[in-house]
Amino acid sequence: MKVKIEKKSILDIDSDVIIVNLFEGIKNPGGVTGVVDKAFKKIISEYVIKQEKFEGKYGEIYELPMIQEGKKIYIAGLGKQKEFTYGKIRNITAKAIRKAKTTKTAKKIVSILHGAGIAGLDPKICAQMITEGAISGAYEFDKYKTEKEELTIKEFIIAETDSQKYKEAKKGVEIGLITAEAVNNARDLINESSQYLYPETLAKYAREIGVKTTVYDKSQIKKMGMNAFLAVGQGSIHEPKLIHMEYKPENPRKKVAIVGKGITFDAGGLDIKPPASMLTMRDDMSGAAAVISAIKAISELKSDVEVHAIVAACENMPSGSAYKPGDVIIAKTGRSIEIDNTDAEGRVTLADALAYAEELNVDEIIDIATLTGACMVALGTVASGIMGNDDKKIKRFISLADEIGERYWQLPMYEEYGETLKSDIADTKNTGGRMGGASAAGIFLSKFIKNTPWIHIDIAGSAFLEKRNEEGIKGATGIGIRSLIKYITE
Ligand code: BES
Ligand code: MN
Ligand code: ZN
Repeated sequence: MKVKIEKKSILDIDSDVIIVNLFEGIKNPGGVTGVVDKAFKKIISEYVIKQEKFEGKYGEIYELPMIQEGKKIYIAGLGKQKEFTYGKIRNITAKAIRKAKTTKTAKKIVSILHGAGIAGLDPKICAQMITEGAISGAYEFDKYKTEKEELTIKEFIIAETDSQKYKEAKKGVEIGLITAEAVNNARDLINESSQYLYPETLAKYAREIGVKTTVYDKSQIKKMGMNAFLAVGQGSIHEPKLIHMEYKPENPRKKVAIVGKGITFDAGGLDIKPPASMLTMRDDMSGAAAVISAIKAISELKSDVEVHAIVAACENMPSGSAYKPGDVIIAKTGRSIEIDNTDAEGRVTLADALAYAEELNVDEIIDIATLTGACMVALGTVASGIMGNDDKKIKRFISLADEIGERYWQLPMYEEYGETLKSDIADTKNTGGRMGGASAAGIFLSKFIKNTPWIHIDIAGSAFLEKRNEEGIKGATGIGIRSLIKYITE
């Protein structure tokens, strides 16, 4: 499906479905919805609103069938104008696309530039959201279905006649295309069966992206002293790989390292998970997929920021060669870790990955990880946890992400959370119990960062959904990518 913008009236573009909108409470639509209303004998104001009592509640889509031969109109409810956000633009667009998909005939869809009318939002971001919503709504992970539902929709066109808005929105479409593509690529990687996706194949995928990529194998990882990382992977038949991708523009404005947890399957190790918890653990490389996709998008956007994406990829399996509870491991920084629970493996691999990142002398480090069930319990699936050692950067991340409809909630890093990690025989234990688990994990990670500004993001709850969310996403969400791109390039 192609997404583009045309400087034409929505009525002058040949299409199967026209998407317009309505804020809650509006009786006489203005703007482009008003233009469409007038063009079709006031069918929206007189029939849909007055008689059918369509109120424009957020997320509802009213369908006017066959207004002209073969042409449908979708009226997307935007909800209360005061509560309108950019994220909602993406969600309603995705919803409309999914509705259009079910017609199995619609080939061409035109949409108005939601948000840039009476809501007065930035046309560039509005267009980015529509583009992302369209591409995200059309996404399907169907590679293992022998009978695939073919997408009939070939084109999605945003119509805008105002020259200035058109110009700005065009930029938004470009950013949206790159971002949405990155998100869908990550979703493919995360949804992929761990039968085929393991450290070596993940590394192969990273290599093919086109930015400079170095992959270190087991013996090289050993030489670098990354024993914590190696310990986690030693129970698997698949060898660990350290993936380092670099995007280096000329005269970079700043240097950022993004580190993604890359456990291609988390069985828990010898502290094996119960079946229900293990079922979706192929998603335990969602952080890795996020950083790989983000660096791809950032390079395509030709950002002036230098970015390093780092993934310590391995599988956490129980076996005769697996690391064991009670083991002591000397991490790359020299700190010793007592393994209290082999299922708290992500932080053990990240300890070494963060240390590796810090040696690159970057200005800041951001890690993203499906790290703790505790974070999922605290925030559910709708928000991700965020913490770190630089409050200003954390706040900036949260607010930029909020703008594009991704939610982050700062969790505390009070010293007391670290007390459970005290070990009798080593510098630290890898876990100390269930209470305050997301914060304790954050404290653990902080011990492996010396003095670089650092943000830690826990996406355990938000990375993978059993039920469709507002955007219509099920399975891998690709959470974090949009925010990483926005935060780094802005
Ligand atoms: N990968 C899991 C965390 C997770 C849980 C991600 C649910 C997505 C959904 C992580 O490696 C893990 O197992 N954490 C343990 C830590 C515990 C042993 C201290 C957990 O949260 O139960
Ligand atoms: Mn685990
Ligand atoms: Zn894990």
